[in-house]
Amino acid sequence: MKKTIIANWKLNGNKKIITDFLLNVHRHLTKTELNSVNIVIAFPQIYLCLVKHIINDLDLNIHLCSQDVSYNSIGAFTGEVSIHMLKENFVKYVIVGHSERRNFHNENNNIILKKFIKVKESELIPILCVGENLKEKEMKQTELVLKQQITKILDELGNTAFDNTIIAYEPVWAIGTGKSASIEEVINIHKFIKKYIQYYTNNSIQSLSIYYGGSVNEKNIKMLSQQKDVDGLLVGNSSLNSEIFIKMIKNMI
Ligand code: G3H
Repeated sequence: MKKTIIANWKLNGNKKIITDFLLNVHRHLTKTELNSVNIVIAFPQIYLCLVKHIINDLDLNIHLCSQDVSYNSIGAFTGEVSIHMLKENFVKYVIVGHSERRNFHNENNNIILKKFIKVKESELIPILCVGENLKEKEMKQTELVLKQQITKILDELGNTAFDNTIIAYEPVWAIGTGKSASIEEVINIHKFIKKYIQYYTNNSIQSLSIYYGGSVNEKNIKMLSQQKDVDGLLVGNSSLNSEIFIKMIKNMI
């Protein structure tokens, strides 16, 4: 199974930067390299349509991801983007519950559940972000926090909640800090998440993937991506520079 890398650009980039980035990826990676890793890009939503055209023109095997979605479908919701709009613009994956949405936009587990349901209903692939903050880590509450974030969805959607779904473990203290979780921490938490969901669903879960995110860079990506418990990586800062991004992909092969 191919490992996945997701470039989450957050609120960064413009038309020129994004176009140059894709041209560099096309120039410096061979077809074989491009096909060895599942490459997913989450540029700001407004550029997704442009990006789809560039990807098609360059014949790049890259998938589109949205950084967020509205839990409303249609109507008077100023500033929101619906799941239908994302689908129409060739988006395949949708990030739900990123810690920056939880912290800066007050998204709680109820809101995240509604968004998660929208993505599931539309048959796009949700990437549910979970993770503890520094205080919770220091108080040894990591598993408790993860359980709360995951159980809300299991309670509502039952045993099939996480079929063909991605959970991204992103400890908040590791995001944008240059301080990644250790390999041991990542493996233990990924195992914990899988076991907890298997236990809760009587082992009926199918195709659940678990990704890691938090200060992944061109140095630690090799080791992380070699772990059988790590199905993919969600990368912020280090994905913004095409040279580093290309190195990361080469280091995953
Ligand atoms: O979505 C990506 C994560 O927030 C990780 O960001 O690689 O800058 O730590 P980072």
